[in-house]
Amino acid sequence: MRFYFDNAATSFPKSPAVLAAVDAYQRECGAAAGRGGYRSAIAAGKLVEGCRSEAARLLHSAASRLIFTFNGTDGLNQAILGVCRPGDHVITSTWEHNSVLRPLRFLADRFQVEVTRLVPNAKGQVTPDAVNQALTSRTRLVIIQHASNVLGVVQPVTEIADVVRTHGALCAVDAAQTAGHRPISLNDSAIDLWMTSGHKGFGGPLGTGLLYIGPRVEEQIEPRRWGGTGTQSEDDRQPSAIPDRFESGNFNVPGLVGLGAALSEGTDDILAQRQQHERALTIELWDQLARCPAITLYGPSPQDADRIGVISLNVAGLAPHELATILDEHYGIEGRAGLHCAPGVHRWLGTLETGGTYRVSLGPAHTAGDVAHLARSLIEVAGGPAK
Ligand SMILES: Cc1ncc(COP(=O)(O)O)c(C=O)c1O
Repeated sequence: MRFYFDNAATSFPKSPAVLAAVDAYQRECGAAAGRGGYRSAIAAGKLVEGCRSEAARLLHSAASRLIFTFNGTDGLNQAILGVCRPGDHVITSTWEHNSVLRPLRFLADRFQVEVTRLVPNAKGQVTPDAVNQALTSRTRLVIIQHASNVLGVVQPVTEIADVVRTHGALCAVDAAQTAGHRPISLNDSAIDLWMTSGHKGFGGPLGTGLLYIGPRVEEQIEPRRWGGTGTQSEDDRQPSAIPDRFESGNFNVPGLVGLGAALSEGTDDILAQRQQHERALTIELWDQLARCPAITLYGPSPQDADRIGVISLNVAGLAPHELATILDEHYGIEGRAGLHCAPGVHRWLGTLETGGTYRVSLGPAHTAGDVAHLARSLIEVAGGPAK
């Protein structure tokens, strides 16, 4: 048996509707979208735009404000490199993924962009007040994750966005870990840039992602990729209209067809149910594991903090990667060991020099039985007995 607990990396299994849609496109269509005028090319274009409409419905956004990217990292790079100018000031947190920290480091080294990295408080929170205090007249961008991919702690991003808007800077949210796990309404928020992977919580195939570009940022943001869009082809300048400005080169049509099928299965009510289901499983797992003295659980308990279904832990006497191998080979459990591309969280936890943590991450398909197997296996490896 295979027990997949790495949904923070990418979701598995994909739903039957996703598999069927990708298969049908690959077998029966296979044409590029937005290029040719023949019937199957037009059909491919409609499939891609159908995916955009489904995303717009679920995110409560205008469809034209949603850009297709190839993963979360791609959208983050477009957002950060597209709005920052030499000498700007950017605020972020030490807990961000390297997909945020590395483009910012590049801008700091090459273009004298000043980066303030806020350290979350003892509860793992970046408060709106802390952001407010760090804002300066040169701050162009505040970029904050919605939830940590190591500890699952959720940040108050809509409140932060309100503070940033009052100040006049731009607010970007890395929603790689929350999209598809809880509802969001972009139209109703002060978030200017929002991006996610399509292949994690949304349940689409790998190679997909989304970037939302809000009205305040639309005029300022420059593309990071130039090329064929299938529109205004006589002009060697990039089209200025969105989404074309940011969508050069062929789409990942099979991926977007799958993503469209995945998104069409979602509603706000379904996402709220997923959130509740994953929260109940997270609390159950945490409570089980907390009874074993040889297991260290990291971050605030899910009873004390808003957390998604991501838990980081260590077992006394085992390096995280040793634990991962034992669980995989003897219990069929697939989780991830290491730093999870977020070194700042490990600096905060004190696990940077010791191989990081072992991480398990839940998805909507998990059952109480899956979680019971995970808890039992971990406690057995840790040598029990229960506290
Ligand atoms: C918080 C966070 N941001 C960004 C990313 C990058 O997303 P992708 O793997 O789709 O490039 C991840 C991936 O795990 C993540 O957890």
